Amino acid sequence: MSGGVDREEARRRIEALRREIAEHDYRYFVLDDPLIPDSEYDRLLAELRALEARFPEFVVPDSPTQRVGGAVREGFRSVRHDPPMLSLNNVFSEEEARAFFARIARELSEQESALEWSVEPKIDGLAIALHYEQGQLVLAATRGDGEIGEDVTHTVRTIRSVPLRLRERARPWPRRLEVRGEVYMRRRDFERLNARLSELGERSFANPRNAAAGSVRQLDPKVAASRPLRFFAYAVAGCEGCSPPSRQSAALAWLAELGFAVTAEARLVRGGEQALAVYRELLARREKLDYEIDGAVYKLDRLDAQERLGYLARAPRFAVAHKFPAREAVTIVEAIEVQVGRTGAITPVARLRPVPLAGVTITNASLHNFDQVARLDVRVGDSVIVRRAGDVIPEIVGVIKERRPAGTEAWQPPTRCPACGSAIERVRGEVIARCTGGLYCPAQRKEAIRHFASRRAMDIEGLGEKMIEALVDGGLVATVADLYRLRLEDLVRLKYGDEGAPGGKPATRWAEKLLQAIAKSKETTLDRFLFALGIREVGEATAKALARHFGSLEALIAAAEADFATLGQEPCCPKLSAVPDIGPVVAEHIARFFHEPHNREVIEALQAAGVRWPEGKAGNEAGPLAGQSVVLTGTLSRMSREEAKRALEALGAKVSDSVSRKTSFLVLGRDPGSKLEKARSLGVPILEEQAFLELLARHGRG
Ligand code: IVH
Repeated sequence: MSGGVDREEARRRIEALRREIAEHDYRYFVLDDPLIPDSEYDRLLAELRALEARFPEFVVPDSPTQRVGGAVREGFRSVRHDPPMLSLNNVFSEEEARAFFARIARELSEQESALEWSVEPKIDGLAIALHYEQGQLVLAATRGDGEIGEDVTHTVRTIRSVPLRLRERARPWPRRLEVRGEVYMRRRDFERLNARLSELGERSFANPRNAAAGSVRQLDPKVAASRPLRFFAYAVAGCEGCSPPSRQSAALAWLAELGFAVTAEARLVRGGEQALAVYRELLARREKLDYEIDGAVYKLDRLDAQERLGYLARAPRFAVAHKFPAREAVTIVEAIEVQVGRTGAITPVARLRPVPLAGVTITNASLHNFDQVARLDVRVGDSVIVRRAGDVIPEIVGVIKERRPAGTEAWQPPTRCPACGSAIERVRGEVIARCTGGLYCPAQRKEAIRHFASRRAMDIEGLGEKMIEALVDGGLVATVADLYRLRLEDLVRLKYGDEGAPGGKPATRWAEKLLQAIAKSKETTLDRFLFALGIREVGEATAKALARHFGSLEALIAAAEADFATLGQEPCCPKLSAVPDIGPVVAEHIARFFHEPHNREVIEALQAAGVRWPEGKAGNEAGPLAGQSVVLTGTLSRMSREEAKRALEALGAKVSDSVSRKTSFLVLGRDPGSKLEKARSLGVPILEEQAFLELLARHGRG
């Protein structure tokens, strides 16, 4: 007894759930305005699934649970298209588009400016015909050659924006209806899919169109169901038992009422100039749309006028596609080289047979990193698809493997920097490979010198970017060690832009000042020196920790060399990792840096030139001011704050930012801040500049 009631209740609930789910699909895909969160949608679907499992007699093919069915075993059946699925003729310029508008006006004997156009984005996907009988999806077919396509109902059914049944509210349904449109993939869905595929070690797709086509033409609907496919309807191709609208713009609105997603970008305009304005707007917004479009389609809005104009062999006369400038082209890889960036990053670059693309000739394309080359398996001699999106550097997005000549070999990444011959390192977990010859490599020269001279490193005043440019480009300086070999006459001879010496001072004046600043930088501390070397990921704090831990450069180099031998082992780098806050990655950078002979030569040259620091733990625990904590306030007239700090540190003092009871003394400059008050209130000794300079002089730092 109660079983009957249960059954009837279940039937009603099942139908209510189906209607509700269909309505949510409609809101989500057609109106782009979902009412409920995805989790709630999933819950409704789960409830429906559970009920259908208990009452299988109520399962119908157009239930939302029935999107994924059995696999097709014998391949795709052929489907004849009636009317044929035509393609569109293309125009590539506004002139050609205007000629098209003028011709149509002439043929219809109408004013060009009075003609109405439905202007729609040309979606870059795969054309599909959907057949409905009594409101149910019964067949989906690819375009094929236009006359005969393939039956892909089993995969197209899995696309949630393809209604399995027309909307309830659109009843009475046409007896038969054929809708045509485009299956596509949204850009970010495509990127996520590719990431997933490459994680699984599967081949990724070159672009969303290939991904859409490859997913629809699957024998197994489960694969298609796992791909984020979508569908936009753009035409009513046939209709029995209904009176379809008489305009294309109205047909799009009607398709939306029936439950199909249509693009939100379609515009109804009057006259060719307005149509061109829509084209330009679409072109400008191209990158912002979340799906790929490759042009605008101009369709005569009135369907009776469309009929009067009729068809050519393979394309209608009443519509045309105005293509955007191509962003992709096919060319041949002539060589694969690597470039070294200013920080040592090694980037593989393909040298290409020149090919015109979006208004420029492309001869190079970035391959980003070694993994990317391996993923794409790009080889010299390959035909490749290059893409230029917006103003971005062209990149290779795919290889046409079918065109690969015989005898090619997989590309081997170099192990030596092409600019300096130093070893290339690839730290575990990092995508970017780098040249380890940071101090020596010509590609990294300017950056290395800039960092070396910077305030917190060797603090060489007057050695700014412009000066470094001039020194390096003038051939005077190749490595940081060369700075200490500069001679006055070399500098004076150096051309310094068009304006002459900076500030119009006599050339010798700035040259003398620069040489003084360089000479002064020779007296430094170990931690500053280590920081100045520009070892990857060795900042000031790490440099200090290294100096404190090892006490001397020799001890650090010995540890680095010992650890170099352990690279590749787990765990590696025991000696460097013993330093507080140094992890395996930083340790690896340090080990590789000191192992590179080029870097060692530069370090030796620096020491030979007189760069030195007090030896001992903490760089200077043996210094005369060891254990003292000093605070600086105000402006000193004879030296900069950095210089004062360096001099104090060289003598073993710690320079701190704030005054406390532990402060040994305060150095007082002009216009002191609140630190002076604080020092007075705590009774901290105060040293005026003159006394401070005398203190330094007593210890040989004057
Ligand atoms: S109408 C008879 N509208 O472009 C004209 N086509 O070369 C039928 N396409 O294979 C096409 N977006 O797949 C039309 N808004 C749009 C379109 C569009 C993309 C594709 C379609 C067709 C190709 C024409």
